[in-house]
Amino acid sequence: MDIVYLNGNYLPLGQACISPLDRGFMFGDGVYEIIGIYHGKLVSSREHLLRLQESLKAIKLPLKISIKHWEDIFAELIKRNKAENKNKYIYLQITRGASEKRTHVFPKGRVRPTVFVMLRDSHIPSYAELSKGFSAITRADIRWSYCHVKSIALLANVLASQEAEIHGATETIFIHNNYAIEGSSSNLFIVKDKVLVTPPKTKRLLGGITREVILKLAKSLKISCKVRNITKQELFDADEVWVSSAARDIMPIIKLDNKLIGNGKVGSVWKRMQQAYQEYKA
Ligand code: PDD
Repeated sequence: MDIVYLNGNYLPLGQACISPLDRGFMFGDGVYEIIGIYHGKLVSSREHLLRLQESLKAIKLPLKISIKHWEDIFAELIKRNKAENKNKYIYLQITRGASEKRTHVFPKGRVRPTVFVMLRDSHIPSYAELSKGFSAITRADIRWSYCHVKSIALLANVLASQEAEIHGATETIFIHNNYAIEGSSSNLFIVKDKVLVTPPKTKRLLGGITREVILKLAKSLKISCKVRNITKQELFDADEVWVSSAARDIMPIIKLDNKLIGNGKVGSVWKRMQQAYQEYKA
C-alpha cells in the first residue's frame, strides 16, 4: 500500500486519519501543491515550494517548514514507495487543522495545522497521445477573486472540469469579461503568427510554475513572446492553443467548443516547446 506523510509520520494510506472537524473538510480552509516527479526526479520543486509559502501567507496560515525539510519528506516518500525511477507527482496539502468549535473565524489558541503529503501516479499523456491534440470548452469564470492562491476550495474548478468531461473535452477554459483567463486546472497559451501569448499574472489566475518554465524556454528557443490579455475571439482565431500544468505538462488544444483551432492539427511551435520541456524535466 502507498506510504504517505501525515503530521510528521510516514504510514500506509489506509491508516492516515484526519478529524472530520478538520477545517479543510469543514471549510476548504487550506492550500495545496502538485509537483511533478520525472524518472524519480522532482520538477521545479523549489519554485513550487516558494509558491506554497506565498499561498500560506495569503491565507494567513503560519507554518515553519523549510524547503530543505519539504524536500527531505519528498525524498523519503520516493524511497519508501520505491519510486526512484518512476513518473509520479507529489500532492501536498496543508489545512488550518481541527478545532473543537465549528466557527468561520480562525480557531483561538494552539491549533496544529494538518500537513499531508502523498505520491500519485503521473497522468501526463504520452507523446503519441499529445500529438493527436485535445479538445476543450469555454465557460464563464464563476470563481472567486483570489485565484492566485492555490486554495483547496476548488468547487468551481471541479464543476468546470466535469462540464468538460460531459462534453468529451479535456479542459474548460474560463472566460471573464470576454477575456480568456486560464483552464480549470491549467494556464493558457496561444500562438498567433508565430508569437506566443499568455495572460499576465493577476489575482484572476494561478501563477503556474509550468507557465514560468515555458516563458523561460521560449526565450532560449527565440520564440517571440507576449504577456498580455487574450480576448475570447483571439482564442478562437489562434493558430495554436495550449494549456499547461505540472500534472499534465503542455497539452495542445485543437478543438474548442467543437470548432477547430488553426488547421486542427498540433502546431510546430508546440512541438518545439514540448521537446524543450522534456529536456528541461530530464
Ligand atoms: N493545477 N491554473 C490552475 C487553476 C491550476 O489548478 C493549475 C495547476 C495551473 C498550473 O499550475 P502549475 O503549472 O504550477 O501546475 C494553473 C494542478 C496541477 C491541479 O490542481 O491538478
